[in-house]
Amino acid sequence: MKDQLMMMKKTAEEALGAASSLSELEDIRVRLLGKKGELTAILRGMGGLSAEERPVIGQLANEVRSFIENRLDEQKNLLASSARAEQLKKETLDVTMSGRKPSLGKTHPLTTVLDEVKDIFVGMGFSIVEGPEVEFDYYNFEALNIPKDHPARDTQDTFYINDNVVLRSQTSSVQVRVMENQKPPIRVIAPGRVYRSDAVDATHSPVFHQIEGLVVDKGITMGDLKGTLETFMKTLYGNDAVLRFRPHHFPFTEPSAEVDVSCFVCGGKGCRVCKGEGFIELLGAGMVHPKVLERCGIDTSVYSGFAFGLGLERIVMRRMNIDDMRLLYENDLRFLKQF
Ligand code: DAH
Repeated sequence: MKDQLMMMKKTAEEALGAASSLSELEDIRVRLLGKKGELTAILRGMGGLSAEERPVIGQLANEVRSFIENRLDEQKNLLASSARAEQLKKETLDVTMSGRKPSLGKTHPLTTVLDEVKDIFVGMGFSIVEGPEVEFDYYNFEALNIPKDHPARDTQDTFYINDNVVLRSQTSSVQVRVMENQKPPIRVIAPGRVYRSDAVDATHSPVFHQIEGLVVDKGITMGDLKGTLETFMKTLYGNDAVLRFRPHHFPFTEPSAEVDVSCFVCGGKGCRVCKGEGFIELLGAGMVHPKVLERCGIDTSVYSGFAFGLGLERIVMRRMNIDDMRLLYENDLRFLKQF
């Protein structure tokens, strides 16, 4: 038995020295010291020993057990510290390496200019409202004095979802929604996307943006419309900007006007950008038609109002000297990074 124990000690020493993982160490422990392990098996033979031999072998067995236990601990510590060293080596951080620069996005020119426009109108006491892009025919046309057979429908040919629902062709639809829900005084702008069944070219797109304006109160006149638009244009384009009102026709305003601003390139003399005109057309406007007001339950013997609608793309293109509208939708970073 003494030989067996000494042999066990020797093989244990070799096996432990060769073990390269914690799980291997555990296997060895179970195999040698476990309940069904080698040591237990050897000690089972103790019964056949003489009374003198028994304590000697017992003591030897204890020595072998604590020897193996100590060696197990040592190996465990060794493996753990080399694993830690390995991990630290893998995770070294070179703090002298140059960092990766995060690339920051920018606002799109349409957003930048829309924000400016909103700021200007908010400064004049307007609130900002929104309406749906998928709209009832009623709000887009009918309530704005454009019945089914009206020729104005041809110039705003849009996408029909069904007979009564369209993709709105103008933000003027929001005027009606606001007047149905709000009592005067009303002072709002309604920016948003509009849709028309137009082919794409340098100045047309089936999707574009408008900014609608509506003011309804007691004693509102064309003078208020002119003053408001003039303040807006001068803030946007500078104090030299001159406005020109031309008579026009819109079914939902009476009288109606188209409004031009002096060319920002030549200042009114005439050049390539304004095609020799000296002025650039910017928006449609007018005094809200009494029929439109009355349909929304507003008493026209007490209240009057003005409205206007401007194309955002047009302002952006003039503002940033962009000559092709498609550039605004292509999302080419080489283009967008210039603004
Ligand atoms: N909605 C018109 C269009 O798209 C523009 C317009 C003209 C809006 C006159 C108005 C207005 O509010 O009063 O052509």
